[in-house]
Amino acid sequence: MDKDKFYIVGNWKSNKTVAEAAAWMQEFTALWKNNQFNTQKLKIIICPADIHLTTLKSLITASQIPLSLGLQDVSAYDIGAYTGELNASMAKDLVEYTLIGHSERRKYFQENEELLNRKYDQAQKSGIKSIFCVQEENQVFPQTAEFIAYEPIWAIGTGKPDTSQNANRVAKILKSKSANKIKVIYGGSVTPENVATYAGESDIDGVLPGGASLKADTFYRLIQNASNT
Ligand code: PGA
Repeated sequence: MDKDKFYIVGNWKSNKTVAEAAAWMQEFTALWKNNQFNTQKLKIIICPADIHLTTLKSLITASQIPLSLGLQDVSAYDIGAYTGELNASMAKDLVEYTLIGHSERRKYFQENEELLNRKYDQAQKSGIKSIFCVQEENQVFPQTAEFIAYEPIWAIGTGKPDTSQNANRVAKILKSKSANKIKVIYGGSVTPENVATYAGESDIDGVLPGGASLKADTFYRLIQNASNT
């Protein structure tokens, strides 16, 4: 791996009770304490449901494991009378990152480009880094975005990942469309068994595992296999 850092962003989606989230963290901590990775080369981020953020934050602080937290989504609105919304300034002390425009948000919640741009602006204003998700190479993304996730819909949760070669080709195209130096991560059926193929590609800066982040030992193996690349 000759990149500055390889990003591993676990997206828990709409899963886990409070007790299950705490148990995941306990198990992950025990695994981590027995085996050390070359963490200089890795950036590990968990995007849990919002209700788990404070619990995970205190467990991470207590364990001193270099795990960062991210949101799965953020409000397009600022502080105020917006029932049910979690806005970026409320979350900024807990998270470093947020996903924006995940295909499941676009599909089930009808999120369109205009709304996603407003979400992106809210995150920027609060200093939260956006991981802006696109589903194919021709999709637009904010020009100032630093992180793009390429997550083809047909590869999500299907056990049929895109090949690392094609994901790398798309990553190159996305990079060529930005005036800035951006990082591109790949999402779609990433597992401990295939993560090394993505880590070995020149233009893939990380992965976005969903299902493979839900069990602490699977996620741990995924990290281990990425770090050995
Ligand atoms: P999956 O999800 O790893 O479960 O396929 C990936 C994603 O949502 O991008």
